[in-house]
Amino acid sequence: MKKFTSVNDILSVKDLVSKAIEIKKNPFEHDQIGKNKVLGLVFFNASLRTRLSTQKAAMNLGLNCMVMNIDKEAWAIETMEGVVMNADKVEHIKEAAAVMGQYCDIIGLRSFPSLKDRNLDYSEDILNKFIKYSGVPLISLESATLHPLQSFADMITIKENWNKSTKPKVVLTWAPHVKPLPQAVANSFSEWACQSDFDFVITHPKGYELDEKFTQNATINHDQDEAIANADFIYVKNWSSYHDYGKMIGENHSWMLTEDKLKLTNDAKVMHCLPVRRGVELGDDVIDGPSSIIMQQVNNRVYSAQTILKLILENNV
Ligand code: CP
Repeated sequence: MKKFTSVNDILSVKDLVSKAIEIKKNPFEHDQIGKNKVLGLVFFNASLRTRLSTQKAAMNLGLNCMVMNIDKEAWAIETMEGVVMNADKVEHIKEAAAVMGQYCDIIGLRSFPSLKDRNLDYSEDILNKFIKYSGVPLISLESATLHPLQSFADMITIKENWNKSTKPKVVLTWAPHVKPLPQAVANSFSEWACQSDFDFVITHPKGYELDEKFTQNATINHDQDEAIANADFIYVKNWSSYHDYGKMIGENHSWMLTEDKLKLTNDAKVMHCLPVRRGVELGDDVIDGPSSIIMQQVNNRVYSAQTILKLILENNV
């Protein structure tokens, strides 16, 4: 594995989840594999979970880890080709990424979308330029369109909570928010769920259709109550419109998931990637209640990162 930017960089979700569950049983078994190697974590945007879980995963493998908040601590970076750099940008991404590749054996990169220019965001410009110019294996820590380490952790969590031979009904439901958010978590969860043995349903108000590229095998239902009926897992997430790009459409407060709505389900487990807006996306009763497996998802972020880092260390570095 030379990069981990989407589900398409792996061979099998099922096998990868099994690997992670094995690693979780004995997380320090390979604590020398990263000896004398350096992981660089590069953040263009804020993070709590991704930053800490990936650092912890690195420590478990004996990797050294350097963190750069590039938006706050580095020179302002130009990303466009062929520009005359006579304004505020000090350094081009070609040099910046290449420099980091000199110091790091693996790079993790977080680069959110602008939510202004869909073509540019969906081209994954910054991510692809880091892959091209750094010259070292790259892991996405959430890009403009996808969040694969989160989705991998979500798949581990579902597996740990489902030991029946039948397919679980897994529902991704849109939730309200106070500001427009990227589609990355929803795109990514859908992409991984579509490659898993689930009865997979997406529910959202009209106008919030995701890019069909990520929702190939999903059933789409605009009636939330109908969609969550008999669900085994409900993944709650806000996203802004893909078609009316980056916009919020109407208020839709009634889409907040509450204990009352959970009565429609098959005693569903509730998931969220965090951070969560209490009383907006999810009711306190749900977050703090027995249905929530959110902290298990958080815990599994370590093992999704550790599995990917180990695969890269074994094969490329
Ligand atoms: N879920 C997630 O990626 O959290 P952070 O943005 O805090 O890393």
